[in-house]
Amino acid sequence: ETMPLNLTINGVKQSVRIEPRVTLLDLLRERLQLTGTKKGCDHGQCGACTVHIDGERVNACLTLAVTTEGRSVTTIEGLADGDNLHPMQEAFLEHDGFQCGYCTPGQIMSAICCIREGHANTPDEVREYMSGNICRCGAYSNIVDAIMDVKQ
Ligand code: FES
Repeated sequence: ETMPLNLTINGVKQSVRIEPRVTLLDLLRERLQLTGTKKGCDHGQCGACTVHIDGERVNACLTLAVTTEGRSVTTIEGLADGDNLHPMQEAFLEHDGFQCGYCTPGQIMSAICCIREGHANTPDEVREYMSGNICRCGAYSNIVDAIMDVKQ
């Protein structure tokens, strides 16, 4: 049985019908082809699926899509303004905040909230806030550098 769902994704209104058990992550990736948001663990452990709902970070793998009725979701695809990357995207490029890049969309979505919520006052504070975003390549110090750079 499917349910209607109306939400805004990256500024675009979307109306779909989905089964109640579908996660926001699967809605984004499999129904809407927004594959920038990654599936790492699918269990809330890695942060690869981090998106914003009404400006707050969430793990899309732990969020049932039906709970986003009427809300506004932002994914990595929604950050750039035309050809202009978001300042956090620019900073990750400048500071080599990735190697393989798989965790990067989630890292960037978390990083934006780190600053927005006032948790980027020191590198240690950034590391603490970002601790739910795992990077197997170990790019952590460059990620912290990128965030501290945007913070200034
Ligand atoms: Fe959601 Fe790992 S895929 S936290």
